[in-house]
Amino acid sequence: MHNITLIPGDGIGPSIVESAVRVIAATGVSINWDTQFAGLVGIEKFKDPLPEPTLESIRKNKISLKGPLTTQLGKGFRSINVALRKEFDLYINLRPAKSYKGVSSRYSNVDLVVFRENIEEFYSGIEHYVDQQKNAAETIGIITRFGSQRIVEAAFDFAKKNNRKKVTIVHKANIMKFSGGLFLDVAKEVAVKYPEIESNDIIVDNMAMQLVLNPLQFDVIVTTNLFGDILSDLCSGLVGGLGLAPGANIGTSAAIFEAVHGSAPDIAGKNIANPSAIILASAMMLNYLGEVQAALKINKALEIVLAENKKVTRDLNPTTFVGTTEMTDEIINHLK
Ligand code: NAI
Ligand code: MG
Repeated sequence: MHNITLIPGDGIGPSIVESAVRVIAATGVSINWDTQFAGLVGIEKFKDPLPEPTLESIRKNKISLKGPLTTQLGKGFRSINVALRKEFDLYINLRPAKSYKGVSSRYSNVDLVVFRENIEEFYSGIEHYVDQQKNAAETIGIITRFGSQRIVEAAFDFAKKNNRKKVTIVHKANIMKFSGGLFLDVAKEVAVKYPEIESNDIIVDNMAMQLVLNPLQFDVIVTTNLFGDILSDLCSGLVGGLGLAPGANIGTSAAIFEAVHGSAPDIAGKNIANPSAIILASAMMLNYLGEVQAALKINKALEIVLAENKKVTRDLNPTTFVGTTEMTDEIINHLK
């Protein structure tokens, strides 16, 4: 029995999270879900986007499956996602992007894993207007040796344990000579400790172009927070979009699994959201919990449903499609 904090989230969150819970239940892994609230629902119920009971539950269970949370642009509360990552020191943002048969995209056989530093730099929330007229603003991005070292080590460790061949270090050390330079120096020091894994470094703008041109030349990618945020969405675009991109936020004492996409208010409440990303995130979570067989079963079942391309959501097949619930049923049918 695993105790897991379940955060349904905003927008399409509750419906895709329900899909994930049903799929996990169908694997037979027994889970004691502790449902907690955050985001807009948190504000409604507790006047707080990140209520104390939710934090308390994650502190206790150390693991959470989380739906997307809405964050207002440029005003209001700070991003709850950023706050959660900081609160639990979830310094690894692990975002795989893999091609699936049946999913139309520009490339097949893409199999990338992005390791994004999840706490430091421009997401640390140190921001202010420089003048009273609000004509200038400043965001401070601090990069540390400690933060750089542990994210790069996580990427190389992952490569080693998962039989990956190459780690690419992405940076902008030519312009940001101090912060980018520190990250690159530390990353190169770490790389030396893994002689069995090939490594290279590349400037982020070139990386964006290279990824679009030929993603098959890359394997594991490690980078700083902002670049990792952007490049991981780019990678998900290479394999058919955000509907298929799972993510994990991992620290030394807790982990939160989620989809890369947001709360998609434009399609909420219509039973049309693609549940694949959160289901893939659930499989990552089961792996993390040591439920390797169940994770494998989920990935296999989803692969079949995607390949058949019949009982899938509208984003995956604009002519013949089903709803979120029906696609979930189909995945569950293939689990048996
Ligand atoms: P979004 O990811 O919610 O939506 C982008 C586009 O992709 C939309 O057209 C949406 O309909 C589509 N889409 C997303 N997920 C989909 C799915 N599962 N199936 C089918 N189509 C899907 O990004 P957006 O619109 O920029 O952000 C909306 C809200 O989500 C914002 O408040 C943002 O702050 C929040 N957000 C939360 C995240 C999290 O909780 N981890 C991550 C990203 C955004
Ligand atoms: Mg993002």
